[in-house]
Amino acid sequence: MTSPISLTQYLVLKQREKGLIPGELRLLLEVVTRACKRISIAVSKGALGGSLGLAGSYNVQGESQRKLDVIANETLLEANEWGGHLAAMASEEMDHSYTIPNRYPKGEFLLLFDPLDGSSNIDVNVSVGTIFSVLHLPEGATEPREEDFLQPGTRQLAAGYAVYGPSSILVLTVGDGVATFTLDREAGSWTLTEDQLRIPETTREYAINASNRRHWEPPVLRYIDELLAGAEGPRGVDFNMRWVASMVADVHRIIHRGGIFMYPRDNREPDRLGKLRLLYEANPMAFIVEQAGGAATNGRQRILEIEPQTLHERVAVFLGSKEEVERVTAYHLEG
Ligand code: AHG
Ligand code: MN
Ligand code: MN
Repeated sequence: MTSPISLTQYLVLKQREKGLIPGELRLLLEVVTRACKRISIAVSKGALGGSLGLAGSYNVQGESQRKLDVIANETLLEANEWGGHLAAMASEEMDHSYTIPNRYPKGEFLLLFDPLDGSSNIDVNVSVGTIFSVLHLPEGATEPREEDFLQPGTRQLAAGYAVYGPSSILVLTVGDGVATFTLDREAGSWTLTEDQLRIPETTREYAINASNRRHWEPPVLRYIDELLAGAEGPRGVDFNMRWVASMVADVHRIIHRGGIFMYPRDNREPDRLGKLRLLYEANPMAFIVEQAGGAATNGRQRILEIEPQTLHERVAVFLGSKEEVERVTAYHLEG
């Protein structure tokens, strides 16, 4: 019997044998994923940890913060600020980027994260998670500025998400396919449980918050109506719908059994390009989905090629099984 492969061994392999990642990036990923372990422990304590409920504060997007949003954000900041791998960090829960304080050595990477994704689910014991993305500080930059984070997703060096569900899992890419690690709570380590994940190209399942239907644009209405028409409609087959309302959990399901995840822009606020944030939700997920053979667009353009304008900008998201993402994107481009 071969012994299980730990995340550390997996990363060392990527660095040493494949020469895919520099040692500093490997060490950074060790720290980020260690912080995810801590968040997993905090989440799993539930009501006993005294950390359910609202924090009584709001983030930059005007969303009410939960105690665990704040705890997860602080856990990631504290774990990553002193190691010397980073120049700065940015988060859904912080108005501005966070430059590594002068008392610590500075590194060459930028870390972005959604510390707790799906946090509206936390108080009802439904899966939540963490999403992160790693960029390089732009060439020639010495003191990191907020603009340094505004790089297209194609420049990501690594991306991952954790899901704190029945088991805690970590899904990671460094641009060489996608691997899943499961948290071995007794050993305290992330253990490789799947490698080279592939999203099925065809699917009969979709995920969208259908309560927003009256606000959708015509291409989305057309696409969803065709799915709803099932075997009697133009698609000639029945489709099934699932919506967890934690992107991490919806995407994780889709990566395993296929499907399309959609959060379109809608007509309520014409200036708002979608709900999900480009830099720390859509980009890392798009990187992972593409690395697993799927596709990710904003309806018109590959998400990873969007040139970001602001740190917290939002984007419409269509991602998952290639054939379906291509179809809904084609409907947008036709219209
Ligand atoms: P967050 O908890 O980080 O704000 O993200 C929630 C996001 C995403 O995880 C999920 O897919 C979506 O919001 C759910 O939106 P609805 O509330 O419209 O269902
Ligand atoms: Mn989120
Ligand atoms: Mn969040």
